[in-house]
Amino acid sequence: MKYFPALLALLFFSSCHLFQRVPNSPPAVERVIRSQFPEGKDEFNRTPESYEARAAHGMISSEGVPATNIALEVLKAGGNAVDAAVALSFAIGVYRPHSTGIGGGGFLVVYDERSSKAEVLDMRERAPARATRDMYLDKSGEVTEKSRWGGLAVATPGLVAGLWEAFQKRGSGKVSWKQLVLPSAKLARDGFAVDPDLAEAIRWTSDKGLLERFPSAKKLLAPNGKPLQLGDIYKNPNLAKTLETIAENGKDGFYKGWVAKDILAAVKKDGGILEQRDLDSYALRYREPVKAEFGEYTILSMPPPSSGGVHIVEMLNMAEDLIRDTDFESVANWHLKAEIMRRAFADRSKYLGDPSFFKVPVAGLTSEEYARHLAKSIDRARASKSVEVEPGQPAPYEKVHTTHFSIVDNNGLAVASTQTINYLFGAVLVAEESGIFLNDEMDDFSAKPGAPNLFGLVGGEANAIAPGKTPLSSMSPTIVTKAGKIYLVLGSPGGSKIITSVWNVLFNVLHHKLSLRDAVFAPRMHHQWLPDKLVAEPGWEGATLQGLREKGHDVEELKGFALGSVTAVQVEANGGKVGVADPRRGGAAAGH
Ligand code: DON
Repeated sequence: MKYFPALLALLFFSSCHLFQRVPNSPPAVERVIRSQFPEGKDEFNRTPESYEARAAHGMISSEGVPATNIALEVLKAGGNAVDAAVALSFAIGVYRPHSTGIGGGGFLVVYDERSSKAEVLDMRERAPARATRDMYLDKSGEVTEKSRWGGLAVATPGLVAGLWEAFQKRGSGKVSWKQLVLPSAKLARDGFAVDPDLAEAIRWTSDKGLLERFPSAKKLLAPNGKPLQLGDIYKNPNLAKTLETIAENGKDGFYKGWVAKDILAAVKKDGGILEQRDLDSYALRYREPVKAEFGEYTILSMPPPSSGGVHIVEMLNMAEDLIRDTDFESVANWHLKAEIMRRAFADRSKYLGDPSFFKVPVAGLTSEEYARHLAKSIDRARASKSVEVEPGQPAPYEKVHTTHFSIVDNNGLAVASTQTINYLFGAVLVAEESGIFLNDEMDDFSAKPGAPNLFGLVGGEANAIAPGKTPLSSMSPTIVTKAGKIYLVLGSPGGSKIITSVWNVLFNVLHHKLSLRDAVFAPRMHHQWLPDKLVAEPGWEGATLQGLREKGHDVEELKGFALGSVTAVQVEANGGKVGVADPRRGGAAAGH
């Protein structure tokens, strides 16, 4: 009996803890869970619980179980978050050949709690020296498909240079480069079962006739003549050899020697312009993060040549001015959010590009005063109409690719990194001997003012093609701190939907106070100015969508959950880490 009060106290505290863990989920999240996990499992054969992990020390959230596990081993072996990020980058490139890989590039944001400093590494592709402004226009000035598939779409890859630099400069020194690269060589050689996401990507590529057009890709994706299906084993032994060469020779293993020769030969044979001088002169860039305050939080996000951070901050600023309501599903809320998104994307088309070539008014776009000015043009009762510059070509909303991961270690270091080869399997061109899928990042330039790219995004002068220039990105790796401490690390793939997916989840956590799991699971909406549509995932209540239509929004209801895939880590007040991966793509969070 004398233990009874202690027992009661224990019960009370553990139930508080439980309550803290699963606050009341909004009905929209319940609906998503019911529809996505019909028998308790989703298409990846996973339960809702399996997308969330909790641990005391370090935490990783990425878009693949094998990649998360490889990175977790690095943390357990004493490596820091940057070491783990390097290992994860190589691994996810093997596991998601449709999304990312060493034939591409990306951005890496690091925040160090001990110095309260953030660093942004731009390891994105650059336009080759022989690139010209009109290289994708035909004789009559129309945009061709050459920026999308094949040799001419390939920009100079930056990923290996970036990972090498990050390891040298910010690695812990406790694990070797080889330790970080070789597990991925093994994964490529042993292979793994094709998951629903990869199966769908292969099917799409095959249906488009791209496997016939690119025999080097067909050898990997349809090794017996028939496209690989769910559960088949995908292997890339030539990529394993390449990774072993990189493990041995560092970045020179990629930019020089037989691997470089193989890449250049594949590009040249398919009509591309990449040359050894592009590989030799590839230059990494450090950028100043976009920084803003939102209540008690500090947002650190990706500056140009990404549009992500600028517009996330621009949208948060407008929202701070306009949105008081905390009901997650209210029409008023989503009407304002749609108007906010519309305005940010209108600015994107005009002001964003590579800052080394075009002066981007970052301070102006991210100032609170400018946000207040924009907010004044929003009518709470009616939707505005996007200015009709060119008829918007509907953006494709199939699940396209790119990847993001978030890591927090036990020593106050956080990494947010988004990486890509751009569209599904990039240029679909594989450098055969080295097994590398090459990027089609050139499509992120504006081939012609006002002509939409693969994501339906339009642009102009700021994002015109020039030699050595970086194509404008939407990738938005983001770190949020609270009183200098890491609070939230997140990002997403999704082309134009990256910006709004990250913003949706950020706002869900910071304003609607949803748990991280609910914030990620909740259905999202997206508006990108052109096309003038408010795109909604399944899971919204009919009344919400009806209310938005009544205000004048052209609401397009998606059949599937195709708005991004957010992988995030949150640090709780007691230092505990929560990792959440997105069921939209079967990701995995794990910690120790
Ligand atoms: O950098 C960008 O914004 C694009 N290359 C990202 C492509 C992408 O996210 C594809 N889809 N998920």
